[in-house]
Amino acid sequence: MNLRRNGILREMGLAPLWRLRSASDEHEEAGTAPVLQPAVLESLPAMMPAQPQPLRSMLSAAMKAPEQERRPADSPAALVRVGDLDWDELEARIRSCDACGLCRRRKQAVPGVGDRKADWLFVGEGPGAEEDERGEPFVGQAGRLLDNMLASIDLKRGEDVYIGNAVKCRPPHNRTPDTAELSACFPYLQRQIELIRPRLIVALGRPAAQALLNQEIKIGAARGKLFSYGSIPVIVTYHPAYLLRNLPDKAKAWEDLCFARRTMLGLKAADRVARPI
Ligand code: URA
Repeated sequence: MNLRRNGILREMGLAPLWRLRSASDEHEEAGTAPVLQPAVLESLPAMMPAQPQPLRSMLSAAMKAPEQERRPADSPAALVRVGDLDWDELEARIRSCDACGLCRRRKQAVPGVGDRKADWLFVGEGPGAEEDERGEPFVGQAGRLLDNMLASIDLKRGEDVYIGNAVKCRPPHNRTPDTAELSACFPYLQRQIELIRPRLIVALGRPAAQALLNQEIKIGAARGKLFSYGSIPVIVTYHPAYLLRNLPDKAKAWEDLCFARRTMLGLKAADRVARPI
């Protein structure tokens, strides 16, 4: 481990490093249904479906809702389904979205930032005050921690990493977005995932995990397991803002990042096996 990373880890409060626990330990206790386990990474080519699975019905219903509510004369462009939009159209649609009440108090919507062809997608909860001001996700204190977390596994915002949020508009007083808001906004995340086609998604915190996995999630129980969104593996960890308030859990976040990095290496190796040059 190099000096720079040691410094970052110290800054994150991640030393001493903890060993990854066994994922199987938590199955019973969690009551959740991880799709893949770390131990099976070697056999990923056999296990991962070649094509993304169909969209989930609940969320694709939400996808149509904002558009069906509008009259064509109000907004002809709104008749184009979110699932058909390219990046620029998608970002424009997000910026003008009024599908839920969060639009009323935002300064601006925050679509996301980063490499649009990234292997890594990190999904947070929703913009806070600074993000609302600047239009970029994770630029406040939690964002600085996220940048350090990325650096600790040799990642950098914008370089093979895309950062987005489960909701694109700031919830008032930074409250947790409710289910209706998460559902109304999900089509945008869904389309971002379709466009990016990341190899791996890291869900930061409970709302992001629940939006992506469409099930009740407790982070403590879901950590260390490999879930999936369609054919894309999903790893769940604590939200950086939570880590700022709960310093001892930073060590667990570090375990999760190590798990994510190992998973990514496994996925790349698996792809090389599946598609030799
Ligand atoms: N917290 C989030 O979940 N997202 C942001 O963009 C900023 C803080």
